[in-house]
Amino acid sequence: MKRVGIVGLGKYLPKRILTNLDLEKMVDTTDEWITTRTGIKERRLVSKDEAASDLAIKAGRQALMDAGLKSDDLDLIIVATVTPDMQFPSTACFVQSGLGAHRAVCFDISAACAGFIYAIVVAQQFIARGTYKNALVIGAEVLSSITDWQDRSTCVLFGDGAGAVILGPVSSGGILSTYLGSDGTKTDLLLVPAGGSRKPASYQTIKERMHYIKMQGNELFKVAVLTMTEVAKIAIEKAGLKPSDIDLFIPHQANIRIIMAMAKKLNLPIQKIYLNIERYGNMSSASTAIALCEAVKEGRVRKGDIVLLDAFGAGLVWGACVIKW
Ligand code: UT7
Repeated sequence: MKRVGIVGLGKYLPKRILTNLDLEKMVDTTDEWITTRTGIKERRLVSKDEAASDLAIKAGRQALMDAGLKSDDLDLIIVATVTPDMQFPSTACFVQSGLGAHRAVCFDISAACAGFIYAIVVAQQFIARGTYKNALVIGAEVLSSITDWQDRSTCVLFGDGAGAVILGPVSSGGILSTYLGSDGTKTDLLLVPAGGSRKPASYQTIKERMHYIKMQGNELFKVAVLTMTEVAKIAIEKAGLKPSDIDLFIPHQANIRIIMAMAKKLNLPIQKIYLNIERYGNMSSASTAIALCEAVKEGRVRKGDIVLLDAFGAGLVWGACVIKW
């Protein structure tokens, strides 16, 4: 089995910024409530003509440049998204066309906020076995397209963006361990009820605002803290390490209070945690992807460092990944 690592990184954030003060004018909320309950100050939103693949292509192009590869070098493109351009074809195929990556095999993964980690694990299998060499893995979301801008309990939370990595064989370091899990008994905690085969779009589903995110935030919060902590512990142990060996912890950015509760349970100091929730909010699969890219570009990750990615989301699904840089 080949050792697999991250050899390039990229990201794209749409230009438009929506602040908490802007939201105060849209729904019955306050900057104070959003900041103290979530840690979010602002988020990015796409312009009218931007879809998930547009963000993904920009992030992907940056990751290719960072890896010193050409689009023709790509064997595999996986896009993790719950906000695809269309139900089909896959967003990954739009990305392939946009990048001119003619040789690549392309497909999407639907694993909500853990999608980026799920996609890394899938790509890793192909590379480790020698089936493919260079894989582009992208977390890309336009959550603003499924956000109910009249629902204060959810609309303050989400944002749009894309993060990308190139995975390939490496001679040292790389992915030390991964761990994935799912619990389909709690699908009701976070979902978009209509628009699929269960409830196809109709006048009624639109009238009842069923094409938007519905979330039982409070219940999800408790499960998130427990699960993400447990998942981190398992991935760290699988890598033969202790929590104190982690140099940088990059968690899914859903709520600052979830992250701080986990950090406490894992005994990780704040200096070892990467946070960008304040600037971007929750971008589902794009959150960990963008956070990893920014952490590396800001010099928070040095050669030899141990990085822990950890995410949790709708499904329920969860995943963690320990990487030696
Ligand atoms: O990414 C996938 C995983 N996602 C998560 O894990 C999200 C987990 N959940 C959360 O992050 C939190 O539950 C939320 C941020 C969504 C909500 O925070 P909370 O502390 O759990 O608030 P709550 O839902 O219990 O609501 C508390 C109060 C309620 O008022 P009453 O009933 O106490 O009078 C809400 O109506 O806050 C009210 N509220 C708001 N007030 C001002 C809810 N949203 C808002 C708002 N502005 N935007």
